[in-house]
Amino acid sequence: MPITIKSDEELNLMRKSGNMLAQVHEVLHEALRPGISTLELDAIGEEAIRKLGGIPNCKDYEGYPASVCISVNDEVVHGIPKAETILKEGDIVTFDTGLSYKGYHSDAARTWGVGEISPEAQKLIDVTKQSFFEGIKYAKAGGRLYDISKAIDKFIKPYGYGIVRELTGHGIGKELHEEPYIPNYRQFRRGIIMLPGMTFCVEPMITMGKRKIAFLDDEWTVVTLDGSLAAHYENTIAITPDGEPEILTIL
Ligand code: MF3
Ligand code: CO
Repeated sequence: MPITIKSDEELNLMRKSGNMLAQVHEVLHEALRPGISTLELDAIGEEAIRKLGGIPNCKDYEGYPASVCISVNDEVVHGIPKAETILKEGDIVTFDTGLSYKGYHSDAARTWGVGEISPEAQKLIDVTKQSFFEGIKYAKAGGRLYDISKAIDKFIKPYGYGIVRELTGHGIGKELHEEPYIPNYRQFRRGIIMLPGMTFCVEPMITMGKRKIAFLDDEWTVVTLDGSLAAHYENTIAITPDGEPEILTIL
């Protein structure tokens, strides 16, 4: 499918969808505490999505069983919420969730610490978040898509962290995953020229150790092969008519 260009009207719906999702992430962050299960957090997230008038877009996506992907510590993405997974002080937790509103999707991920966490874990979270902002400096009309990838890679490299390669950012709109795909590491091409009306998810997934990942037996949960911690930071962004990036999933 070609890359979709959203009209001004569609961009407004994308904004609304993104704003709702930002609110859901606030609710999830506020609910996060030692002793809560990831299943309870999923229920809180799903309720927040539905109360705002959205439809969770993770639920039933290729059979995924929950509304919020919740990944703990060495889990990178697509962790499955469970009553038995009780969070404890010192854990790091990623919420990756999305919704659709009037047919338009938004998608965002955040990693948080539970209570007090190690300075090393906090640094991983902060650097992962910053790499997103370094990347989107290049998200401009007339710019080349893979300059985003290169900027993320360049920023992460000095820290010695791993950049997950098997999963990428993506276009988004009437579908949760649209073209183009946006790797978080340097490409040997420069990529398409970005245009106003394009909407993307940029989502670095960063590991404290090596970048290699594996699946758990549930065939969803992606973990680091070496057991090191992982962090993820994602927003839905738009290239607006003035050619600049606008982050849709931050309040
Ligand atoms: N927002 C996540 C992604 O883009 C999760 C999608 S739903 C899942 O991959 F079913 F794949 F988990
Ligand atoms: Co995504």
